[in-house]
This record gives sequence, C-alpha cells and structure tokens, in this order.
Amino acid sequence: MKRRDFVLGLGTMAGAGVAVGVDGWRSHPVHQRPSVALSLPSHDAQPLRELAAQKNLLYGAATQKRFLTSDPIFASYFQRECGVLTPEVELKWKRLRPTPNEFNFNDGDWLANFAAQNQMALRGHTLVWHKGLPPWFATHINALNARDQMLKHIETVVGHFAGRVHSWDVVNEAVFPLHHRRDGLRENPWLQMLGPNYIEMAFQAAAAADPNTLLVYNEVALDFDENDKKRAATLALLQRLKAKKVPIHALGIQGHLRGKTKINAEKLKTFLREVSALGLKIMITELDVTDRAFPRDIDQRDRQVAEIYSEYLSVVLQEPAVNALITWGLSDRYIWLKNEARKDVALPRPLPLDRQMNRKLAWSAIANNLKAAPKR
Ligand code: XIL
Repeated sequence: MKRRDFVLGLGTMAGAGVAVGVDGWRSHPVHQRPSVALSLPSHDAQPLRELAAQKNLLYGAATQKRFLTSDPIFASYFQRECGVLTPEVELKWKRLRPTPNEFNFNDGDWLANFAAQNQMALRGHTLVWHKGLPPWFATHINALNARDQMLKHIETVVGHFAGRVHSWDVVNEAVFPLHHRRDGLRENPWLQMLGPNYIEMAFQAAAAADPNTLLVYNEVALDFDENDKKRAATLALLQRLKAKKVPIHALGIQGHLRGKTKINAEKLKTFLREVSALGLKIMITELDVTDRAFPRDIDQRDRQVAEIYSEYLSVVLQEPAVNALITWGLSDRYIWLKNEARKDVALPRPLPLDRQMNRKLAWSAIANNLKAAPKR
C-alpha cells in the first residue's frame, strides 16, 4: 500500500470517530470493524472463483451478453474471476417475450453457452417480478388469463433451460411492508390479478419444469439496521411457504448496499440463522456498494466502499447456509446504477474491479472474507 493510501485510510477511520493504534484497527467500534485489514492484492493473486471454490462456495457476477461480446478484455476478466454468471437482463420477460405469443431465447442461450464453456454455473433471473415486463404486458395480461400466462411462461422458460441452470429466482421482490397488507406482500400486478397464492403457484410450476434446479425467492432491502419490517415479513412469507410444503430451496438476498446506511451485524446474523433454520440455503445475489455518499478522492472512496463490503461479508460469509456470492457486475466499466450518479459527476466505483480491470480494495475485501469463511 502506498504511504498516501495509508494516511488517507487513517483519515477515514478518524472521521468515523475512531482511535487508531499500531495495528491499525485497535479501537474500532465493533459494528464498524472490518474483519481483516485491507490492502491491494498482488497481480497474480488467486481469482475469486478459486478462493470461493476452496470453501465450496460460488463467486460470480451479473453481466450482459453485449458487454461480453463487444469487450474481449472484460470477457477475459469475467472468465478469470467468475464461477457463476447471472444474466442481468436477458432472462426477464421484457427480453424473452417480444410479443405475447413469442419466446426469444437467443441471448439467453448465448449466455448459457458462454457459462458452460467457461465452467461457470448459470443463474436464472427472474420469472415473476413487477418490473422488467414488456410493453404489451399491461394490455394483454388480465385477471382472466394471468394464471395461464404466468404458468405458461414459467413452464416454457424453465423447461427450455432445464438441466443448465444452477438456481432460478422464481419470484423477485414480492414483499413490501409499506403497502400495509397483513401478509406483508407488495401490491403488484400479479397479486392484484391472482391473489397472494401466485407465489406458491410459481414455485410449483418451476419445480415441475426442472426438478434439479434450486428454486429461490429473491428479495431486496433486507440488509440494513432499519429493515426490521422487511426481514420480518420476508421470514413470515418463507415460513408460510415451508408450512405448505411449497418447493422452495433458498432465499436470495440482493445486497444492494448504500454507503453510509448502517448494517446491524447482530440483526443480520439472526435473520440468516432464522432463514437457515427453515432448511433454506441463502444466496447473496446482487451485491454492490453505492459510493454516492463518499468523497471524490479515489483512494478514500475505494477504502470506504471496501470497508462496507468487508463489514457485510464478515457476517454473511460466516453463515454456513450461504452458498453463493454474486456481485451485480464485476467491473466499474459496466454498472447499473445510472440513477445513482454522483453529485460531483465522478464515475461511480461500486464493484470489485475498476474500469481498467484492476482489482480494487473491494476485491480484497471479498477475497479476505472468502479466505476467512468456513468450508461448506
Ligand atoms: C436491473 C439491471 O441491472 C438493469 O440493467 C435494468 O435496466 C433494470 O434491472 N434488482 C433486481 C435486478 O432484481 O433485476 C435489477 O437489475 C436491479 C435490482
């Protein structure tokens, strides 16, 4: 680490009201203490997919076909670091269903082949969601045909990829306590047309179409101290599904972390334990750390982003039920949070690799926490 980075690092910690001893971390408050001190990795350090595999974990990222085909350098780094690939957009309704009666699997198949050729697991994302819908959805899907349309979509899509998909996000973001329903569910088109049982119907259909894939319920905003209601409502949904013997195998925790929003390690740990006690696996499906609230200075910013990765992963990777860690993108060259643009218009740096494909401190945070994770 350069002397300047070190000084800036101390500045960061001092800013958080921390006294720093010779070991760098001595008086860090428990909830902010990174598990392992961070430094930049050497160029030939083992890739994340290998570090993960040593613990029987998967590490990978979401990406799009167009990035892999137009940017061979990015593709080579993706192959090097990733043991699992999530199609970022190609398996959403919008992309699979150009018209009400058509299915277009070209881009999904391309990604499935890319994953297979590079010994990567493939994730399916996502079958039932209130977003990512095609423009014709609102005019063609109604209470009379919604059940058949949803089931036909699941049967066709899961059937098409059967045997090739490690895990499917069957239902995405169905819980929303702010809608004030007793069951905690989100008022979305599926709920309005089919009632709350649309969730179990979707899981049943997915299980019938591919009995060998992990069926995942994926949810956002479960991570922060302030997310008590979301955690409670999600857990209640999972309990109801398990009690009804619905075929569900894992919870997907998206993990879109915003810098400066507090993580409560104890609450997070308890939640992971409760989910695991239901006999479910847990996948971290969409991890990234928004740097919007952090200083423009790149050394300081990267360190603060990495500290959040570390704080979060030091909790979740210690939970044995967690079987995969997927970041929502690999390199800052391709990020999804365009709406999170910084006020100073500096380019955001939320991911493990920078725009030149150099490993950042966020990469080290992931690597260190994979090394510290118990073997599955
Ligand atoms: C996002 C993609 O990254 C964008 O490219 C797309 O325009 C919109 O969707 N939660 C999810 C993902 O489950 O599907 C979203 O992906 C990000 C939030």
